[in-house]
Amino acid sequence: MQIRTIDWIGNKVKIIDQTKLPGKLEFIYIDDLKELWQAIKTMKIRGAPALGAMAGFGVFLGIKDSRAGNFSEFARGLDRVTSYIASSRPTARNLFWALERVANAALKNKNKPLPAIKKLILEEAKKIMEEDRSACRCIAGYGAKLFRKNDTVLTICNAGILATIDYGTALGVIYRACEQQKGIKVFSCETRPVLQGARLTSWELKKKGVDVTLICDSMAAALMREGKIKKVIAGADRIASNGDTANKIGTYSLAVLSHYHKIPFYIAAPVSTFDLTIKSGRGIPIEERPGREVTELFFAKPIAPEGVKVFNPAFDVTPHNLISSIITDKGIIKPPYKINIKKILGK
Ligand code: MRU
Repeated sequence: MQIRTIDWIGNKVKIIDQTKLPGKLEFIYIDDLKELWQAIKTMKIRGAPALGAMAGFGVFLGIKDSRAGNFSEFARGLDRVTSYIASSRPTARNLFWALERVANAALKNKNKPLPAIKKLILEEAKKIMEEDRSACRCIAGYGAKLFRKNDTVLTICNAGILATIDYGTALGVIYRACEQQKGIKVFSCETRPVLQGARLTSWELKKKGVDVTLICDSMAAALMREGKIKKVIAGADRIASNGDTANKIGTYSLAVLSHYHKIPFYIAAPVSTFDLTIKSGRGIPIEERPGREVTELFFAKPIAPEGVKVFNPAFDVTPHNLISSIITDKGIIKPPYKINIKKILGK
């Protein structure tokens, strides 16, 4: 089954509404900037590369009706639109990278007529979307070499088709290894509180015919001790220049557990997820989300007393020394990360 998370159809962004999964595969069409912002905020679309593509189209939707009389007036509007989209979710580098890329496409062509600049903005957004498709396939090609026949692999959150355009980063590696008949078996952490593992990863792996077993997040240590996990692979929302990596809350726990049990722990991400302006994980902004995601979102009744204090950071940072390799679309990066990230990204 072919699944495509995001597309540009009839001057609208077409996305899968991920809040409806796994119950319902529902597509929505967005041609309004505020609606697009809401879709990001409420996680109808999520996952770093998908957010990048969405942000690119958001810029076009925000400026397409601009009636600016000259470029500086247009640029002020453009700035308002990019700042607005940037206020949706703070952690995924890809969202900001895409905004910068699309804005630069306009700035570089400021001498062209405004209708031509608008067209170039849309072209750039489409390029970002298409490039993600090939980036994921490159990541998969490099990453699959690390997997042996019959490996059992643990993953967290959703770094698959639903987090990208149509293939995935961490799950893309698994798809490629399966295409190579390696007989990979996957354990998916449910990923409290938004349950991307339970709702999304197990949904798409099942659709793709990959052997997947769902576990509660707290079960990972026991499985590792029993020798049931041979590798761990996760995606990334932002990677600092020393290799420290922000990803879904719970990823750090898995990295600590992998280190203790001597299991390779891999991060898979395109180069657009790296933020070389940030020295270490301490500089990565971590989104805090509403407490109701923890207390009631996916339950028939609230599971905590009304008014209880809740802390709900959506991401954590895994220190680089716990990461065995970072699999990118430009190749596999091994420690020492400070040096080797520069080498790969400099290319
Ligand atoms: O809060 P989410 O669902 O947007 O978090 C997504 C993740 O943490 C993913 O692992 C990450 O964005 C990489 S997606 C290829």
